[in-house]
Amino acid sequence: MAESAPTRLIDPCNRHLNYLRVSITDRCNLRCMYCLPQESLPRLSHDDILRYEEVLRIVRVAVGLGITKVRVTGGEPLVRNGVYEFLLQLSVVPGLIDISLTTNGVLLKDNLHRLQAAGIARLNISIDTLQPERYRAITGTDVFDRVWDGIRAAEALGFHPIKLNAVALKGVNDDELVDLARLSFEHPYHVRFIEFMPIGKSRWAGRPPLLVPEIQERLRVLGELTPVPRSEHDGPAQRFRFKGARGEIGFIPAISRHFCDRCNRLRLTASGQLRPCLLSDLQEDLRGPLRRGCEDAELAEIFLRTTRHKPSEHSLAGGEPAHTCCQMRSIGG
Ligand code: GTP
Ligand code: 5AD
Ligand code: SF4
Repeated sequence: MAESAPTRLIDPCNRHLNYLRVSITDRCNLRCMYCLPQESLPRLSHDDILRYEEVLRIVRVAVGLGITKVRVTGGEPLVRNGVYEFLLQLSVVPGLIDISLTTNGVLLKDNLHRLQAAGIARLNISIDTLQPERYRAITGTDVFDRVWDGIRAAEALGFHPIKLNAVALKGVNDDELVDLARLSFEHPYHVRFIEFMPIGKSRWAGRPPLLVPEIQERLRVLGELTPVPRSEHDGPAQRFRFKGARGEIGFIPAISRHFCDRCNRLRLTASGQLRPCLLSDLQEDLRGPLRRGCEDAELAEIFLRTTRHKPSEHSLAGGEPAHTCCQMRSIGG
């Protein structure tokens, strides 16, 4: 495997940033109850959104500064035209050693070969329930079977790891936590439980939280969870495994036990804003300088400046709402 580039993106807390999350669209083909507000929100216009060649140029600059991992997100990345050609070009950027995709899985099944051909081996797929009717209630769309078939087909084609993301929602899917976790016995999936984060406007904000300690307590009926050692490119999940299981269990305790001290991430939004933290509205504009014809050095300087301003931690753990006006779907999670 190629060696990681030496990182120059080291923030004032001595965190080495090697992971860039790239949102390529704010559009989505689902309407998850925890993601969207009641009212409809304006979408980015075609011109606001970075063109693929602009994203690729930014990624090349980032790689020169030590980024070695890129996760492509949305909204729903697979709804954007040309995404497979873009992924292929991304996969040949020298110095990138880990490229992955977060998707809601709706368009997965028929496009797995194109993803494979584009060099994607690792998928994170959102699935908050295993019950079709409940899936429709959570996402506003009756496509559980399509998503589940996509997950099974991805497994059959050898995608690995397949991480299944479930946002834990009290009164909605908390009676299914054990069923979701049980999947890790039969399948090599990494089943991850995510604490809801109140970001932007969300219909779910203000509801009683369902936090990782309670989730762990409920999973005890399945046996003891053994920690899995972290590796260099890991994101925020705490990793565990049940004895005898083929897959893993992950917890993303964004509220109860934040993981800011080991955060290794920057985010590029679909409109070309570079954000040092999911839960802060701090951002630096890359699109303007890019379209004014700046040199790569100026883009690099923006990365370095954003890194210098990365917040040491977020304040949600203290029960504060996130001071973000951006929606999750435009930041990309
Ligand atoms: P890998 O570790 O590469 O698999 O990625 P990931 O778990 O970071 O990616 P994914 O897109 O599947 O995100 C899972 C959940 O983690 C989502 O709810 C994200 O919003 C959340 N998440 C990802 N990065 C951060 C972060 O830096 N801070 C917080 N608070 N949440 C994050
Ligand atoms: N809090 C936590 N996770 C969220 N996701 C979307 N909105 C939120 C939120 N407010 C999850 C999605 C997807 C991942 C990228 O982020 O379910 O799996
Ligand atoms: Fe659901 Fe993700 Fe789409 Fe939001 S962006 S509606 S969380 S699938």
